[in-house]
Amino acid sequence: MEKIILTGDRPTGRLHLGHYVGSLKRRVDLQNSGDYKRTMIMIADAQALTDNIENPEKVRQNIIEVALDYLSCGLDPKKSILFIQSQISELCELTFYYMDLVTVSRLQRNPTVKSEIKMRNFEASIPVGFFTYPISQAADITAFKATTVPVGDDQLPMIEQTREIVRKFNTVYDEVLVEPDALLPETEACMRLPGTDGKAKMSKSLGNCIYLADSADDVRKKVMSMYTDPTHLQVSDPGHLEGNTVFTYLDAFCKEEHFERYLPDYANLGELKGHYQRGGLGDVKVKKFLNNILQEELEPIRLRRKEFEKDIPEIYRILKEGSDAAREIAAQTLSEVKSAMKINYFEDQDLINEQVKKYH
Ligand code: TRP
Repeated sequence: MEKIILTGDRPTGRLHLGHYVGSLKRRVDLQNSGDYKRTMIMIADAQALTDNIENPEKVRQNIIEVALDYLSCGLDPKKSILFIQSQISELCELTFYYMDLVTVSRLQRNPTVKSEIKMRNFEASIPVGFFTYPISQAADITAFKATTVPVGDDQLPMIEQTREIVRKFNTVYDEVLVEPDALLPETEACMRLPGTDGKAKMSKSLGNCIYLADSADDVRKKVMSMYTDPTHLQVSDPGHLEGNTVFTYLDAFCKEEHFERYLPDYANLGELKGHYQRGGLGDVKVKKFLNNILQEELEPIRLRRKEFEKDIPEIYRILKEGSDAAREIAAQTLSEVKSAMKINYFEDQDLINEQVKKYH
């Protein structure tokens, strides 16, 4: 079977390093690998609205931010279809039909929905659209017959829910839909990049993000004030790696070649960690090293962003073209879905013949 990628992001803010190591970087590699028939990247504005209903302007403003971040990371509209969820009305139709295949109690058991309800204090009054967004996400994935969904592990319950919907649909109606697989980040550090304050996850609301669009100076300042080991007071003290954000970032970003360039006293990360744990290695030195690595990674992204920022109408054209292309694919799937569900009355000559016979 031909492999197809679909993934996306909610446009509620600029993308940060957590998005980058968790998914964006991988998407670019996948796009360029030649292993996939199609790569589809969706700006999930309709999903963003499910919990930002009082804030449509935020979603609207962040479409362009996310698109610029995509393009500057190397997602290429010649190779990938970049599109906006809300412009594909077929997704709503699919969602409506899939709702017949899912129970309320199954949605209530979805761990991602459960934790998000808590996080947003929705317990007392959950918007129905929010509650059912896993079904809409199943529509996003299946509309394009995606085989492969690159996401973080927080999205695994969504993929599982999608697979259940696919199996149910294919059993009840006909083999139309494709069961997708999640594709997780390769390492633990990439899966859950902590914020600069050492808190569980990089997140806009905690103000602990390094954004892809941050200036070199901002990145440096954020790195230099990063959370490390609170017991490592003097250079000579032994340091701890566990929960030490700077080392977690090094796990995610550092390659051996970086030592040759920026810290030739050490051969690799193992040696650097060893010295830190023994004592005698100061945080500032490690932070400067990390800053060099991040600057090297982020500088080309920043420069490309500046280029793309010069022609904003072109970005909207790219998104329009992608949305038109996505719509065509989704329409094909929807037509197959409707005929499997026997709601394709006007395309079904057999049905008409059958009724003719009945009334003859
Ligand atoms: N739920 C995803 C997030 O919050 C965004 C998303 C919407 C998505 N539809 C999708 C991801 C389909 C993968 C596939 O990041």
